[in-house]
Amino acid sequence: MLETAISTRADALFKCPLVDLGSRNAKYAGVFTPLPEIDRPKMGITEVFLSGAENYFEKFEQFSYIYSIVKGAISRFDKPLAGLAVDIGSGFGNTVIPLLENHPDLTVLATDISPDLLAICRREADRRGLDDRCMVVAMDAQQDYFEPGIADVVFGGAVLHRMVTRVVVKRALDLLKPGGVGPFSSNRSSRGTRSCGRPTSRSWSARPSASKAAPPSSAFRPCPSTSTPARIGASRRRQA
Ligand SMILES: C[S@@+](CC[C@H](N)C(=O)[O-])C[C@H]1O[C@@H](n2cnc3c(N)ncnc32)[C@H](O)[C@@H]1O
Repeated sequence: MLETAISTRADALFKCPLVDLGSRNAKYAGVFTPLPEIDRPKMGITEVFLSGAENYFEKFEQFSYIYSIVKGAISRFDKPLAGLAVDIGSGFGNTVIPLLENHPDLTVLATDISPDLLAICRREADRRGLDDRCMVVAMDAQQDYFEPGIADVVFGGAVLHRMVTRVVVKRALDLLKPGGVGPFSSNRSSRGTRSCGRPTSRSWSARPSASKAAPPSSAFRPCPSTSTPARIGASRRRQA
């Protein structure tokens, strides 16, 4: 197991043991996964995010652009960004890398269903000397693996259209400490909400969660285009 400041705390963050996927395949060294996720089928994604991960990274790495948008949401927080951020559906790190680069008091737990994308996120964090504040965990965000109330902030960049929104929002709310914030972005491309492609615009929404008991709708405002069941269904049908 690669020891970093955050990985030494991992046992307190998860309900189940974590395994370093590098013990099964060297290319995934430093990508952790909750034990029940081992050999679980990767539902809802295609090879674009698995065997095609490097190609996807080369085409769609947008660290500066994404941060130029994320910081608008961050500027609405009532305190500086610090503590633990859980990023849902991180991919190769479009949100994770700039968050680490721009917020030295932040530690980021990056999650994604694709270990291939997370291996790239791990590598890019390592290259920039950010590894000590970054941990990558391959998991289905809809599963209940996290201990409750561990996160100061939960990010999700262009992910809600890929999952059952109400489940992910519930997971995110459970994760947040009281007073935590959960900005999620929509991702609109010229082809609508099917957004494997380069996004042409993103909007971020966030409101402080006054208490953990607050209903999801008061703490999160996912973009309407990704939050209505009809659009989610339509988006799913269009996915390859
Ligand atoms: C459009 S990409 C967004 C990546 C990144 N957040 C960004 O802003 O560029 C959607 C990501 O969601 C991930 N994803 C899809 N279904 C998932 C699931 N059930 N659990 C976790 N991640 C998932 C994909 O692997 C992919 O990396």
